[in-house]
Amino acid sequence: MTSPLPPPHRTGPNSHWSTLAVHAGEDQEPKPRGAVADPIFCASTYAFSDTQALIDFIVQKQPREEYARYGNPTEKTVERKLAILEGAEAAVLYATGMAAVSGLLLAKLSAGDELVMFDELYQRTREFCENELSRFGIVTRFVPTGDFDQLKAAISPATRLLFCESPTNPHLSVIDLERFAALGRNHGIETAVDATLATPYNVRPIEYDIDYVLHSCTKYLAGHNDLLAGSIAASQEKIEPLRKFRGYAGMTNAPHAEYLLLRGLKTFELRMQRHNANGQAVAEFLAAHPRVERVYYPGLPGHPNYEIAQRTMRGCGGVVTFTVKGADWQQTARVVDALRLPQIAASLGGVESLVEQPLVLSYYEFTPEQRLALGIPDNMIRLSCGIENTEDLIADLAQALGK
Ligand SMILES: Cc1ncc(COP(=O)(O)O)c(C=O)c1O
Repeated sequence: MTSPLPPPHRTGPNSHWSTLAVHAGEDQEPKPRGAVADPIFCASTYAFSDTQALIDFIVQKQPREEYARYGNPTEKTVERKLAILEGAEAAVLYATGMAAVSGLLLAKLSAGDELVMFDELYQRTREFCENELSRFGIVTRFVPTGDFDQLKAAISPATRLLFCESPTNPHLSVIDLERFAALGRNHGIETAVDATLATPYNVRPIEYDIDYVLHSCTKYLAGHNDLLAGSIAASQEKIEPLRKFRGYAGMTNAPHAEYLLLRGLKTFELRMQRHNANGQAVAEFLAAHPRVERVYYPGLPGHPNYEIAQRTMRGCGGVVTFTVKGADWQQTARVVDALRLPQIAASLGGVESLVEQPLVLSYYEFTPEQRLALGIPDNMIRLSCGIENTEDLIADLAQALGK
């Protein structure tokens, strides 16, 4: 797939990841006053010199700013950079990851349409489909994750979109994206993947012919636990209606957050290398620990999707989910509370390690039967390894599990 954008001036066709992360998509014009970093444009609106200039903008669709709900200069730079990192023609930014998910589904689906999803999903995505999309007469069919026969069987003439996460949150299942895309293509149905836990560093779903790649940029892409953002990468043609809907729905992000995202992206490769290394080392440590019952990490040979991960992913990221052997929810909570480095908080993918017990953080109001059906046992812990020193993280886990 070729990009319609001019090549970024400090990168070429053979540029490597860090070079792209730092330079790709940046404005080719010198920045104001020679600044090396992009300035933030705190404008809600942009003035035209006279009426003819406004008419020219409308008629000739000139690439300039008009009103910040439709974009700002920093946003354009981030969108170009994300598209290049993703290997896509174009990208559109959103206020949050959930705005990207809901923005795609609301822009694509109408009353009477059906959506088919693999059932391991970020809980709010599932709730949005069950509780909100259903109000508009859109039916969601959930299929056991990775079961392609059931996925195929769930497709009906009303199906408009196939959606999955890969790796899934919090179970870390990896989807065979080539198969997923092929199934959609064979039925003339578009496919979407929320690849937040992978990032384009670890897998680029566009290369497998997936139509829409979604990210909560809040996580690894921004990387510093200090902003909210979401994105979708796709072909230029597919992005345009999404951008239009985003403008109506007001799902646009703000210049300050976008500036921080741009800044975070500069160190993307360095951070991902450490997240991948920490995730792998911590998963191996946990798998060998006598107090650990099960480790969900696709980089471990025993994981059911190990082969798919080896074939399609460069690394498996920093999120490691595990269960504590023979522990009830309070004993599990004591392990969480004994950790010193990771803080108890929602989110993942930032430089600071974070930890949560899914039962408490996302599923507290669910009945034990509901949690069981969703694969959330009481003794489950989700750890998001940051970029701290690997040995320090492992030493901390050793002391917490030793208590
Ligand atoms: C896989 C996945 N998708 C989407 C989201 C939503 O992102 P945000 O919190 O930026 O709205 C999350 C948040 O945890 C997530 O883990």
